[in-house]
Amino acid sequence: MAKIVLLEKIHPSAVDHLRSEGFTEIVQLPTALKSNELRTTLADVDVVGIRSATHVSADTLKHLPNLKAIGCFCIGTNQVDLPAAAAQGIPVFNAPFSNTRSVAELVIAQAILLLRRIPEKNARTHRGHWDKSAQGAYEVRNKVLGIIGYGNIGAQVGILAESVGMRVTYYDVESKLPLGNARPAATLEGLLEQADIVTLHVPGGSLTENLMTTERIATMKPTAVLINASRGGVVDIDALNAALRERRLAGAALDVFPAEPKNDKEEFVSPLRGLDNVILTPHIGGSTEEAQENIGREVADKLARFLKAGTTRWAVNFPEIPHLEKEAKSRILHVHRNEPGVIARMNADFAEAGMNIVAQHLQTRGPIGYVMTDVDAPIPAALLNKLRGEPATIRCELL
Ligand code: NAI
Repeated sequence: MAKIVLLEKIHPSAVDHLRSEGFTEIVQLPTALKSNELRTTLADVDVVGIRSATHVSADTLKHLPNLKAIGCFCIGTNQVDLPAAAAQGIPVFNAPFSNTRSVAELVIAQAILLLRRIPEKNARTHRGHWDKSAQGAYEVRNKVLGIIGYGNIGAQVGILAESVGMRVTYYDVESKLPLGNARPAATLEGLLEQADIVTLHVPGGSLTENLMTTERIATMKPTAVLINASRGGVVDIDALNAALRERRLAGAALDVFPAEPKNDKEEFVSPLRGLDNVILTPHIGGSTEEAQENIGREVADKLARFLKAGTTRWAVNFPEIPHLEKEAKSRILHVHRNEPGVIARMNADFAEAGMNIVAQHLQTRGPIGYVMTDVDAPIPAALLNKLRGEPATIRCELL
């Protein structure tokens, strides 16, 4: 039975799911562990579950030869040395979709609030004003929502937006299947010119750095609003600040910033602070109880499928083999260096041992090869040792 350690107060949905899959040796620890603590705590552990505060370096991994998989119960995986884990035959899983809906709901709420000028009305009412004017307040019905980046979150935003009567257009660098009645925009500038609400859902990084420049912000209608719940670097914040202060844009909602405090002790600094027509939130687009629960279940499910069937679908660093029920008596999981002749030698070893292969699935990713072999007979220890002794073998497990 696999030994599992879950750190950093992972949601109870993870333990519930692992138990329902038959895993009982689960230890839960409330905090992150330092490198030396990981070495001792995980010495004979098969799987570790972490969140963002536990760092798993190449050096730590070298001291954990028994570790078989890592579950990151969050979205990001920067805290793990992914190539080093792959080189040691360890797939790393995360939960990229668990908070999609939470972000999408927030964006719809922000669109409605901004078009009704609620941020300003709210601020003024707090200061004792009673401004009942309808001027500049609009319904979202029939307004054009322009989505930049029509991936998981962008597409979900589009579906929710249509249900409240918005007309959806999107721009993506890749060709995407339009959901509902959404229409692709031919160019980014075309989208910016016609949208009443522009919402950004692109990845971060150098390719999308300052995607919203002074020129592009100037292309938007003066009555339009901008929403960014993607990554802080995507908007030129000084350009946005100038446009908002000069009323060349009606409002904005920002959940992410070029510089974000590391914790709640650090002050949040931004030129947008104090602007009544701007909604500022502390990177909480995906932070809901439901998302945490989903993350627990999603990552636990990936780990359980890996432990039971060798499934590596959605691993972030490893060749992906989809879920295939183990129907034969034995399944051998073989991780090796991706070089010529490995499979030929391996299959010769099976033939020499008189074993008939009933199914075999191979995937490679960069320097790593992963092959799943089903045999309808018990595997002799000598064959397993031979496979483990092959020069290119990184790891060989019998399920
Ligand atoms: P995704 O990878 O599913 O979608 C991104 C889409 O953007 C893809 O369709 C891609 O082709 C497109 N794209 C890439 N470069 C582009 C460009 N220059 N112009 C137009 N389209 C471009 O990602 P997902 O899951 O939808 O996440 C979107 C963003 O939301 C990411 O930046 C992610 O970090 C962020 N996010 C923020 C959260 C929050 O708490 N505020 C929570 C979860 C995700």
